[in-house]
Amino acid sequence: MNYIGSKYSLIDFLKSSIDKTLENSNESRQASEMIFADLFAGTGIVGGSFKEQGYSIIANDIQYYSYVIIKHMIENNGNLNEERCQKLIEKLNVIEGIEGFLYQNYSFGGTEGQEFRRMYFSDENAKKCDAIRITIEQWYQNCEITDHEYYFLLGSLINSIDKYANTASVYGAYLKHLKKSAQKPMTLAPLPIMRGHVDCKVFNEDVSALIKKVSGDILYLDPPYNARQYCTNYHLLETIARYDNPIIHGKTGLREYSEQKSVFCNKQKVERAFAELLKNAQFKYIFLSYNNEGLMSLDTIERIMKKFGKYAVFMKEYRRFKADNARDAKAESTVEYLHCLIKN
Ligand SMILES: C[S@@+](CC[C@H](N)C(=O)[O-])C[C@H]1O[C@@H](n2cnc3c(N)ncnc32)[C@H](O)[C@@H]1O
Repeated sequence: MNYIGSKYSLIDFLKSSIDKTLENSNESRQASEMIFADLFAGTGIVGGSFKEQGYSIIANDIQYYSYVIIKHMIENNGNLNEERCQKLIEKLNVIEGIEGFLYQNYSFGGTEGQEFRRMYFSDENAKKCDAIRITIEQWYQNCEITDHEYYFLLGSLINSIDKYANTASVYGAYLKHLKKSAQKPMTLAPLPIMRGHVDCKVFNEDVSALIKKVSGDILYLDPPYNARQYCTNYHLLETIARYDNPIIHGKTGLREYSEQKSVFCNKQKVERAFAELLKNAQFKYIFLSYNNEGLMSLDTIERIMKKFGKYAVFMKEYRRFKADNARDAKAESTVEYLHCLIKN
């Protein structure tokens, strides 16, 4: 998934920096004896990679679509029968489209005669997504699939439909004409099964509340870097995940999001929230991903982290997220930092 702030291409940098930190502080425990928490998990790629390394994982995100994906990436393991999963995907791929909530509110055909005509998906893909979403729920309610299969299928749907969205990258706006990838008929593709430690837990909470309830060894923090809220930029994925027929507003069909607005996107509140998070964290090793254009400056992060223990930083030049290029023609790359704290 092309997700704002995804660490997909930074995994090696994160792993080597974290390994180096553990080595320098003479950490003698094996990965399988340690708990790694990824509390702004997004696509789950960071937690998933450390799970494959043998760590027990705690993962969390405030967005429900992310929770669905990480329930699969982090909690699913050998508990899924791959052959059966493949068959379920095949069945879903051939069902008839339905003129459901997505079609009626986010496709051109479905919004004919309405105040706002929207074109987030082709008519056919919106109907297909509706039909798949409704069928997954029916299977689940009728106990025809397990919890593990439910999150596998729903996560696969969210990940798949995103590839056919008629947007520049995020759901803050749709394009006037169907772009090529949005014209193609949608295929439901299975999310990979990441094997690793079996004792993993996933949450769907505000990190500031959750931090008081969890503990472990390594805490990885990857908050939003700027004012762009995930709840508005990915509102459609949230609606597909919840499928709760929300009241929607305006040109882009936004759902209510006040409960999911992040303080980490707020210049006035972010420093305090970050300091509180560190204060409440019951973890020895704490890592923060941030870039050189974020709401908190490098110096501010260093000052706050140093209050709680020993500080160091790793850095890497990084190609800018695709959506940023369209917005402004600033430098093609940014500097990604991994700030480290060994807590007193
Ligand atoms: C930079 S992205 C994380 C990307 C992720 N590491 C990846 O590689 O896919 C930040 C994530 O933090 C989540 N988030 C923002 N504020 C939050 C909060 N207060 N509590 C929990 N999650 C939050 C967003 O929903 C978003 O998924």
